[in-house]
Amino acid sequence: MNAPRPSAPHLRWWLILSAHMALITLLMAGSLSLFSCSAKESRMSLFLYNEADPYIREFAKQILAASPQDAMPRKFDAGNSQLIQNEQIEAELTRNPASQRPALMMINPVDRLGAYALIQRLKGDDIPVIFFNREPLAEDMGLWDKTFYVGARAEQSGQLQAQLVMELFGGSPDKLNEYDRNGDGVIQSIILKGEQGHQDAEIRTREVLRSFEDAGFRVEVLALEIANWNRDEAYGTMGNLLRDYRHRVELIVSNNDAMALGAISRMRQEGLYRDTNGNGRIDRNDSGWIPVVGIDGLREAEESIAEGYLYGTVKNDSQSMATAMVELAGVLLGTIDPATLSYALTDGRYIWIDYRPFVSER
Ligand code: BGC
Repeated sequence: MNAPRPSAPHLRWWLILSAHMALITLLMAGSLSLFSCSAKESRMSLFLYNEADPYIREFAKQILAASPQDAMPRKFDAGNSQLIQNEQIEAELTRNPASQRPALMMINPVDRLGAYALIQRLKGDDIPVIFFNREPLAEDMGLWDKTFYVGARAEQSGQLQAQLVMELFGGSPDKLNEYDRNGDGVIQSIILKGEQGHQDAEIRTREVLRSFEDAGFRVEVLALEIANWNRDEAYGTMGNLLRDYRHRVELIVSNNDAMALGAISRMRQEGLYRDTNGNGRIDRNDSGWIPVVGIDGLREAEESIAEGYLYGTVKNDSQSMATAMVELAGVLLGTIDPATLSYALTDGRYIWIDYRPFVSER
C-alpha cells in the first residue's frame, strides 16, 4: 500500500518542517564540531603547588591570561601537599570520557624530588609535561624527551641582589657609605631563607654571599633563618631577631618578596621606619632606615618600594615565563609552528628567562 501523498497545504508544512530540521541538524553539527575542537585544544591541565603563595598566584594568573580563550588549562591547587597533587594528576589521567583527558600537563611540583615518579607516569601515557618554578633534578629531566622546564637561573637572582646591595653601600668595599651605620667596614646582615631544599632558596642564599665575597665586601651574617617563602613566618621570625639585633642590623636579604614584606611589617610595627627628616614620607635618608632586599617583583613589593620601605627586588619574570610555557605547549600540541617560538630552547628542554633588578630612584 502506498503512503498517502500530502495534500497541497500539508505539503507546504512538510517542506517548512524539513527545512527547519535541516537547519537544526546543521547547527548541531556546527556546534558539535566547535565543541569537540575546543575540547581537544583545551586539554591542558595546570597543577600548582600552593595557590596561597602570592608569587604562584600571580604566576597562575599570567598563565591563564597568556592562554587562548578556547584552550584555557584546567587549574588544580595542591595546597602544598604532594600527595594531593599526585591524586589530582592521577584523576586527570584517568578522567572519563577518555577524550577529556589532558594532552599536556603544566606542573609546579610540591616536592621537586617527586618529579621522578611523575615523569615515569606521564611517559607511560605519552603526555608531554612542562614543569615550572620548581626545577626537577637534571637526571630526572633526562628520563624522557617530552619533559620540559621553564624557569629562571637562581644564581642570577642572588648575584643581582648582591649588586643592588653593593650599589646602595657605595659600590666600593673599602669605603662603605653611611648605610654602614656603625662604620666598621662590615655589613651586619640578616638572611631570610625560603624553603629548605628548594633550588631557589639554596642557590640564592649561596650566591648572594659569594657575590659579596668575590667583590671584596665584608658581610657578617648575624642570623640566617628559614621562613619558608612565607610572609607570616617572616613576620614572626623578625620579632625574635629584632629583640637580639635591632641595634646592630644594617641589611636584610630575603630570598623572596613575601618574606621581605613580612619583615618590613614587623619592623614598622616595632617603630623602625620613621620619617626622621620630616619630609612627609619614608625614605632612605631617614635615620634608622634599614635596607631590605627581596626577589620576585610582586605587585605589593613594587608598592612598598614606591612607598619607601622596601629598598629593591629582583624581578622573577612570571609574565615572560607564562608566555613561554603557553607557546611551548602550542608547539608540543602541534598548534604553533616551532619556528615561531619566541624563546630559545636550551639543551632541547629548558627555557630560561632572565631576572631583572628593580629599585626606586630615590
Ligand atoms: C619564588 C618564591 C616562591 C617559590 C615557590 C620562588 O621562585 O621566588 O616567592 O614562594 O618560588 O616555589
